[in-house]
Amino acid sequence: MGVFSTGGVGIDLGSANVTICLENEGIVLREPSYVLSMREDDRDVLGVGRDARQMLGRTPKDVVLLSPVMDGAVADVYLATLLLKSLAEKALGKRRALEKNRLVVSMSTGATRVEHAAAEAAVRGAGAKRAALLRGSVAAALGAGLSIDEPKGMMVVLIGGSTTEVAVLSMNGVVAARTTRTGSLALDEAIMRAVRREKGLIIGQRTAEDLKVDLGTALEIPMGSVENVTLRGRDARTGRPGMAEVNALDIQRAILPALDNLLESIREAFENTPAELAEDILKNGIRLSGGGALLEGLKERLSALLNVPVTIGENPQDEVALGACIAASDEKIFQKLAATGCLLEV
Ligand SMILES: Nc1ncnc2c1ncn2[C@@H]1O[C@H](COP(=O)(O)OP(=O)(O)OP(=O)(O)O)[C@@H](O)[C@H]1O
Ligand SMILES: [Mg+2]
Repeated sequence: MGVFSTGGVGIDLGSANVTICLENEGIVLREPSYVLSMREDDRDVLGVGRDARQMLGRTPKDVVLLSPVMDGAVADVYLATLLLKSLAEKALGKRRALEKNRLVVSMSTGATRVEHAAAEAAVRGAGAKRAALLRGSVAAALGAGLSIDEPKGMMVVLIGGSTTEVAVLSMNGVVAARTTRTGSLALDEAIMRAVRREKGLIIGQRTAEDLKVDLGTALEIPMGSVENVTLRGRDARTGRPGMAEVNALDIQRAILPALDNLLESIREAFENTPAELAEDILKNGIRLSGGGALLEGLKERLSALLNVPVTIGENPQDEVALGACIAASDEKIFQKLAATGCLLEV
């Protein structure tokens, strides 16, 4: 692709991460959805994405770390626009302006009209001449390479940081869907609470997330195979720096209630599937997507709970951005999705 040619850009604007995919290049960026602002004026932005997180605690200024996308909805249009725009510019490079590309942004569309309008405003504000919003579950299915064209029901469960979307797709559209405001972040929070309660240590969300990714599992842990890791944090009693030991069993005990809560909400959505589609789903199984789906053993636990086969791809966290990019790059697909209403031009 030359410097002046145009192409499709797909962006997953999540509450945990922004992921960007470029036509012919694939996934080129994933950064946390954060903005670092001055405390007395949050419009005064010092950094976005990874820079924002790295600057925190390293700048002498009085700053706050803000999440412009929360619970899968745009919480602050100004800051979300800024985040989207600057990360898109970073991904594209200075010479390839966003105006020259077709942009498809996918996010958990939000339950209310106000949230929807906020998402539209942020996408429009990002500066693309042609832009659209695409439903997360549809983007995930496209990105996973599933054929969403066919007249048979297929169920996608998209687990993000703060939202979980359960959707039945058929013929390029969404036939039934339910979004709940819980996701993988709930597991981090459960770990933070448990470490404080059981070990008397206060740890941050990033440490809790690392524990979840490295040690977290929904599978049975074989006896004798648990190793302790040393954690650093703040002693809950004295407030001074402290340490504690944790192992995979501790982490499992901490996350299981929150995980089962999440799986229960998926089961509820599953059981509300229209009868005529349920048969297809029983036959074809459920497709898992999103970063939250990466938790070890989640697939097996969901499959056992519903008694349905569950599949997951190699890179489920990339699939939404990939699908958005496919929609942005392929005119035919773009039009088909627009016709069923799961893609909205803004
Ligand atoms: N290997 C892993 N094991 C467990 N969880 C993981 C793993 N990798 C990523 N995650 C979790 O996935 C979540 C982020 O997923 P994703 O990027 O799909 O969310 P998002 O799109 O930003 O959020 P949302 O869709 O809710 O707005 C985080 O909570 C992260 O901790
Ligand atoms: Mg997401």
